[in-house]
Amino acid sequence: MTVRVPAKVNLHLAVGDVRKDGFHELTTVFQSLSLTDEVTVAVAEDPGVEVQGEGASAVPTNGANLAWRAVEELARHVGRDLAELKVRVLIRKGIPVSGGMAGGSADAAATLVGLANLWKLEIGRDELAGIAANLGSDVPFMLHGGTALGTGRGEAIVPVLSRHTFHWVLAFARGGLATPKVYGELDRLRLEGEPPRVGEVEPVLEALASGEPHRLAQLLGNDLQAAAVSLRPGLRRTLRAGVAAGALAGTVSGSGPTCAFLCADADDALRVAAELSGAGVCRTVRVVHGPVPGARVIGGDDEP
Ligand code: C5P
Repeated sequence: MTVRVPAKVNLHLAVGDVRKDGFHELTTVFQSLSLTDEVTVAVAEDPGVEVQGEGASAVPTNGANLAWRAVEELARHVGRDLAELKVRVLIRKGIPVSGGMAGGSADAAATLVGLANLWKLEIGRDELAGIAANLGSDVPFMLHGGTALGTGRGEAIVPVLSRHTFHWVLAFARGGLATPKVYGELDRLRLEGEPPRVGEVEPVLEALASGEPHRLAQLLGNDLQAAAVSLRPGLRRTLRAGVAAGALAGTVSGSGPTCAFLCADADDALRVAAELSGAGVCRTVRVVHGPVPGARVIGGDDEP
């Protein structure tokens, strides 16, 4: 059973106070992009996880892998014996690892969808979203896809009206950033001073409904950007280079270090990508669009 699952970018990411459970209160707008991982789940005598593709060597293949934790959570939920889990998960990475695009969460969401099909479970999307939320803040959105408003720690999702398709150029960095470290850096910056905060979310929702990229571009914002740039000062150059190459605006994606540049249309995105890839400010560039649907079964074969 093979599932394709897209990466996300946060169009708006307002980070509030630290809660008692250590998570930060968020108001965020997610959009899923046409950059995907593929996850195959199959019945096998040798259970475990295998990872191939983009950055595969940096992904754990033991019980720390979020996709494997998804296998265990779903098994527990439906009362299967954890000692008898004859499941193999093959992950083909297209989403950069530790890139701020929720690649690990994507794989967990894809695993839930794949296994629910493989095991022929009668399980609704809402029930699956509940299990997803236990796995990580971004996992429910990765099931859902499209464009959505996330609140709580990011796991409470409401779909958002988004007209037309938006065209993006992504700049992948060398190496990743650990999400907890970036949140920690933001806490530190806030103790020291007043790092910039994004505005209200409503204008972002209005711009999405208008489908007008110039309007949306002015409103892209991410409270984690200052922290990501503080940890990786070179990102400042990347962000400047994208705009100099003709993008309408750029933002650090989630906790970074991937940068996402919104472009006026598909042709502009191709031009921006060509110029940015020659600027020497990132490892590689990709042209993508959004929104796209969340985790979806694309093949019924059960051989990984
Ligand atoms: O939910 P997830 O496991 O993806 O979060 C990874 C880390 O990011 C958390 O352990 C926490 O340090 C940070 N985080 C946070 N507030 C959120 C989401 C994530 O502090 N709302």
